Amino acid sequence: MNVGGTLIAGPAAGPLSGDITVPGDKSMSHRAVMLASLADGVTEIHGFLPGEDNIATAKMFMDMGVTIDWLNDERTSLRIHGVGLHGLKAPDRVLNAGNAGTCVRLMTGILAGQSFASTVTGDASLCKRPMKRVVDPVRRMGATINGKEDGNFLPITISGGNLHAIHHKSEVASAQVKSCVLLAGLYADGDTIVNEPKPTRDHTERMLPLFGQPVDVAADGTITLSPTDKLKAPDTAVLIPADPSSACFFAVAASLVEGSDITLNSIGINPRRDGWRRVMNGMGANLELDHERAVGEEPVADIRVTSGGLHGMHVDPNDVPDAIDEFPVLFAAAALADGEFILENAEELRVKESDRIAAMAAALRAAGADIEERRDGAIIHGLRALSGNADVDAHGDHRIAMAMAVAAQRARADIRIHNAAAIATSFPNFVTLAQSIGMNVRWADDNEISL
Ligand code: S3P
Repeated sequence: MNVGGTLIAGPAAGPLSGDITVPGDKSMSHRAVMLASLADGVTEIHGFLPGEDNIATAKMFMDMGVTIDWLNDERTSLRIHGVGLHGLKAPDRVLNAGNAGTCVRLMTGILAGQSFASTVTGDASLCKRPMKRVVDPVRRMGATINGKEDGNFLPITISGGNLHAIHHKSEVASAQVKSCVLLAGLYADGDTIVNEPKPTRDHTERMLPLFGQPVDVAADGTITLSPTDKLKAPDTAVLIPADPSSACFFAVAASLVEGSDITLNSIGINPRRDGWRRVMNGMGANLELDHERAVGEEPVADIRVTSGGLHGMHVDPNDVPDAIDEFPVLFAAAALADGEFILENAEELRVKESDRIAAMAAALRAAGADIEERRDGAIIHGLRALSGNADVDAHGDHRIAMAMAVAAQRARADIRIHNAAAIATSFPNFVTLAQSIGMNVRWADDNEISL
């Protein structure tokens, strides 16, 4: 787990302003590396997120014989020399996903299709997150998986090859589960079919056709993928839009700090990632879309955010999967909105990089908020300002750390956010960008830290 690192965040000195571009989408960056590595030919990727999670995915493929050329110092552009669906080499070390759940869940599907055995592990946080949701379906497809508690926890060893096609009816609304099964389905002996209880982010379905592999999505949501013997590198570069999950931190900050006016450039507005905007609109935020266009297969827009009197709301359960990663910062918004905010049906938040319901309830309460933790969500009564002057624990979870840095912009005194170093997994330049729009946040010096 990425422990250590303390952020000191305090009340914003004045309105936030500026025109900024947040880094590339994390989910798409993982998928682009995976498909490019498994394709025949060379793929260029631009807009890649150089966070630790995505670097872990790239490193796994390098450990299995894929050559990756970084095209710039920032590592946002890269060229991948694909080895073909059957060209990966058995790794001579344990594959390490670090903190990245998406990496390990999707790789389970890919590794299940290989004729060699491989062992995958992760950091202390990832080793506590459930794997059965992906292990069960790939076992049904014929892979052998060994690991702690019947393969529910990392490290796991996957012996694959000769997979059968299955019809997977997922009990959990999870794009990681869906994508794992679809990626294993590339190697199966017939059509792989997936149904999910609620639609989830569809980047795998959108990106596979770029690599010559059609995916059928029926009107009732049933997803069908036929097996193939090859993926083909696209003729043009894969372009990755800016990550809406990162943009949301600044959208909430600008909504909370009076007089703010910021623009977030080229943000993904795929409806399956756009739940945060639906929730913020429901809370009365001022979000304006401009210059709607497409980047690759994904819709994007520039989003202008001006401050506005946020109010509470009862979140529609149908919006939960589409906003699943944004709830930590939406809780921060709710803690400073007028009235009551109710979230239900969001128990999945408890199995993210931390138990995000418990972590946010503890951190916000320590900072002076009125939040009641529920098994599957929270009830939050908004206040004008947080008292602040608190030490809070981000539990090595990037989104808890950034959400609390946003909440602190409307505190009366600063908040010290410990175990915040994990910001580097998804948003390495968060502090610099936050400062550039006027947020009051910085890394603490060693001698300032107390917990
Ligand atoms: C992701 C799916 C979601 C999300 C995660 C990224 C993906 O996880 O929380 O950050 O890229 O497929 P679940 O599938 O567990 O909901």
